[in-house]
Amino acid sequence: MNNQTRVRKAVFPVAGLGTRFLPATKASPKEMLPVVDKPLIQYAVEEAYEAGIRDMIFVTGRSKRAIEDHFDTAYELENELERAGKHAMLDLVRSISPADMNCLFVRQPRSLGLGHAVLCAEPLVGDEPFAVILADDLMTGDNGGPGVMAQMTAAFQKQGRSLLAVQEVPLEQTKRYGIVKGEPAGGPLMRIDEIVEKPAPEVAPSRMGVAGRYVLTPRIFDEIRNQPKGVGGEIQLTDAIERLMQHETIYAFQYAGKRYDCGSKEGFLQATVELALQHADVGSSFRDYLKTLSL
Ligand code: UTP
Repeated sequence: MNNQTRVRKAVFPVAGLGTRFLPATKASPKEMLPVVDKPLIQYAVEEAYEAGIRDMIFVTGRSKRAIEDHFDTAYELENELERAGKHAMLDLVRSISPADMNCLFVRQPRSLGLGHAVLCAEPLVGDEPFAVILADDLMTGDNGGPGVMAQMTAAFQKQGRSLLAVQEVPLEQTKRYGIVKGEPAGGPLMRIDEIVEKPAPEVAPSRMGVAGRYVLTPRIFDEIRNQPKGVGGEIQLTDAIERLMQHETIYAFQYAGKRYDCGSKEGFLQATVELALQHADVGSSFRDYLKTLSL
């Protein structure tokens, strides 16, 4: 395996303002919102780790200190737990940052868009392929199967081309997504020939919406650097992907699993209910509780 097809680094853009979750996100990052007992960003990092990625690069902004602290050693807490003999809890706290995982942080000085956030990570990524994971899309693999990023890095190892996770979305929701059109290319792959950011349903080229998981070749950095602002005055990642398509084949990847849009209140509540029902400690009592509700 060479470094051209092995994905070793993941970029987590966490510098957005999270306006859809105000007031919760006024002073704390939306990526620290917990689903049951784990913050969104930890689900995302665990998904990358499962995919064999060890360098976690966070593109942070204002009010994001909590994310750095979450992946740092908590000496006082660990000492207290050790002294109290709470070993299971100590292991739980320590498992957040396994010894072979590196966390790196870079600031995006202003929220200029997702493309710009990714470009901020360039000095830490360098000239190699990398994953991008949007933690507000919480993704789970199919029952016990590999996570979505693990599926994508495995596919990337085979063909070495950029991959975008996609799923079919309801026609009336195309305005919330990057939408792609392409040709079937075997199994879960589709060779993309068109990508549009947030099109209205009337002009959407298909119903295949991009979810918050990407594996990108490093040429994307040049494309972002050289592009003008796009939809909403932001530097859009989708526009850079469209430009990259002029030079390299890009595939859409239809993942096996489920996505919860935790950047929206509905998606966040759905994730909370479904993951609570699957939770080892509280799942069965929560199920009993739900049955008592007259809905
Ligand atoms: P969103 O479109 O969800 O924006 O960004 P947002 O600001 O986080 O949330 P709302 O829409 O105001 O509620 C998608 C992803 O891109 C990151 C966000 O942190 C999120 O993970 N992002 C977006 C940045 O890191 N920087 C930006 O300038 C914009």
